[in-house]
Amino acid sequence: MSIQRIGVLTSGGDAPGMNTAIRAVVRGAVARGVSVMGIEDGYDGLLKGKLRELRPRDVGDILHKGGTFLQTARCKEMLTEAGQREAVRVINAKDVDGLVVIGGDGSLRGARRLSELGVKVVGIPASIDNDIFGTSMSLGVDTALNTILDATDKLRDTASSHERAFLIETMGRGSGYLATMAGLICGAELVVIPEVPTTLEAIGKAIEAAYARGKNHAFVIVAEGANPKVHEIATHLDEADIGFKSRVTILGHVQRGGRPTAFDRLLANRMGIAAVNALIDGEDDVMVGLGADAISLVPLEDVVNRVRDLQSDYYEMISVLAR
Ligand code: F6P
Repeated sequence: MSIQRIGVLTSGGDAPGMNTAIRAVVRGAVARGVSVMGIEDGYDGLLKGKLRELRPRDVGDILHKGGTFLQTARCKEMLTEAGQREAVRVINAKDVDGLVVIGGDGSLRGARRLSELGVKVVGIPASIDNDIFGTSMSLGVDTALNTILDATDKLRDTASSHERAFLIETMGRGSGYLATMAGLICGAELVVIPEVPTTLEAIGKAIEAAYARGKNHAFVIVAEGANPKVHEIATHLDEADIGFKSRVTILGHVQRGGRPTAFDRLLANRMGIAAVNALIDGEDDVMVGLGADAISLVPLEDVVNRVRDLQSDYYEMISVLAR
């Protein structure tokens, strides 16, 4: 059966570039004679039947905006068999022949489940965490890193004026990707991430050594999923009296907002078009991923069952560069 009408939804945490991807999906599909239904509020809206047709003009003036104009949600019902079957029922009732799911690992798990139940699905990875197997970059990561960079450059001014150790918490759930890359690009003394166990004593020694080397400030980037937690590290540094006084900055959701960077817009356009072409050309149960130099199709089964490697070479570079 050929594809006449596809649905598109954004799900989970928003990520810069989602709007650009929606626009690419709509215009890419219409260019091939396929209509598009926008689904509001992610899987939640799908279950409630919140679908409306999106034409090329409906997605004008959104490619440069953060967030998602379709809205997003974290949907508990989609974790249940009943919810998943209801989603399939709505998709069939609305004559939707294929679905593009734009979201993170939880959203792609939902996509895989729908695929197992017979829905033609293609995923687009979008999550600032960059924890999705099968793609070197997910939508939103580059923008989030630029936001972190902007914040750490500002913090550096005040850190060096006061001889302080700044402990900066980045997002990432169970992944240390953002913290590791942030550590490299902002010149941190060290990063504390869930993938590499460490102790308060080891962190204290590293900062003390930086002080002894004559540094007038130090940055420690702490991933939100790491152990010890950022406030425990601050308390330890102050009690251990290692030279610097410490200050904590939790960057939080500011990392999820903002205009997508050029890289994210380009990636969103490439992935949006690739997802639509894949569906129309008869591919499904896949995610579009960024490989070495091209977009490739990665089986959703691998996406949801395999774990993205920590790029340990980047992690190791941080201590070399902190000298
Ligand atoms: O997955 C994106 C993310 O921002 C994580 O880094 C973070 O742990 C989580 O979402 C926060 O979720 P919420 O927006 O529901 O607080």
